[in-house]
Amino acid sequence: MNAHNERTAMRALVCKQFAPLDQLSVDTIDTPTAIAGHVVIQVKAASLNFPDALMCQGLYQVKPPTPFVPGAEFAGIVHEVGDGVTHVKAGDRVIAQTGTGGFGEYALAPAQRVAPLPPPMSFSDGAAFVMTYGTSFHALKDVAALQAGETILILGASGGVGTAAIQLAKLMGATVIAAASTDEKLALCKSLGADHLVNYSNENWRDQLNAVVGKSGVNVIYDAVGGAYSETALRSLGWRGRYLVVGFAAGDIPKIPLNLALLKERKILGVYWGDAVANDPKMHMANMRQLATWFAEGKLPIAITERVSLDGTIDALKRLASRKAMGKIVVEL
Ligand SMILES: NC(=O)c1ccc[n+]([C@@H]2O[C@H](COP(=O)([O-])OP(=O)(O)OC[C@H]3O[C@@H](n4cnc5c(N)ncnc54)[C@H](OP(=O)(O)O)[C@@H]3O)[C@@H](O)[C@H]2O)c1
Repeated sequence: MNAHNERTAMRALVCKQFAPLDQLSVDTIDTPTAIAGHVVIQVKAASLNFPDALMCQGLYQVKPPTPFVPGAEFAGIVHEVGDGVTHVKAGDRVIAQTGTGGFGEYALAPAQRVAPLPPPMSFSDGAAFVMTYGTSFHALKDVAALQAGETILILGASGGVGTAAIQLAKLMGATVIAAASTDEKLALCKSLGADHLVNYSNENWRDQLNAVVGKSGVNVIYDAVGGAYSETALRSLGWRGRYLVVGFAAGDIPKIPLNLALLKERKILGVYWGDAVANDPKMHMANMRQLATWFAEGKLPIAITERVSLDGTIDALKRLASRKAMGKIVVEL
């Protein structure tokens, strides 16, 4: 009897149909079985990402067949491997990004989405690491080519990818202006190293920003929020500044007057980490090595602000979707 046969049922968060988040439930379902080219992982921790909340409501570009277990990224112990899997074995500590499946006691992952958990990392740190820090590092390094001495404005700076962007921009030698909607959120940004703080709930936030950056404007803007904030921010981007389009957490996709790009030869640059990983796996591996090195050196503490149980996941997703969360929330199983 293999390890899998000892356990046939498990608890998991289940999305039965695309609907408001309070229709999610924690149910008992069948434990997945390893199929060829796949790995069954006993999940120890899974992190929440904004797309998890969108996906459950049918608002994300990826719409998995229902019912499904949400949870895009997680860390745990290999329980069973399918035929053809050689790079990990039962008992290994691993991280995985599968798009779905993480918010359950066991998850099935395609082998190519599974990697060893760097030895000094806890399961919770590992679950909150790859997508969030991978996205922000790719955006700053590969897309914006952020240079030491430059100034960067981060919108949504207290959120998951935003907090990672603060930490990474500081490690890259930039001056960081963090923008967020409450003083509590800005306090978190400051604790992570932000040099200047702007509360964009204030109507005059562009004046606050201009007081910091002066006439020359900022060199780079990291926008994970969208909505009305984007155009205001873009107007503060300096000569040949780079504007990173990362996400639209505010809901509205801004329609930007293109004269704002012509003026000052500004560059508006899209960031799509998932596609970048698929198209350029060597770049992704190099980025992961650098991030793991910074983590091991103690320079990149993962910005986990909350740890919840599987039963607390629905409330946590609701907080994330309604702007009440900060940093990274991790589900510990
Ligand atoms: N392009 C990529 O490859 C990529 C990769 C990962 C994530 N993303 C995207 O990046 C965005 C942020 O993801 P995340 O996981 O960091 O999310 P998060 O932790 O929830 O952070 C989102 C931030 O957006 C701000 N926000 C403004 N209006 C909001 C609203 N109506 N509802 C919720 N938040 C609102 C919030 O800060 P304030 O209250 O301070 O405004 C919040 O801190 C999402 O759109 C996600 O899809 C893109």
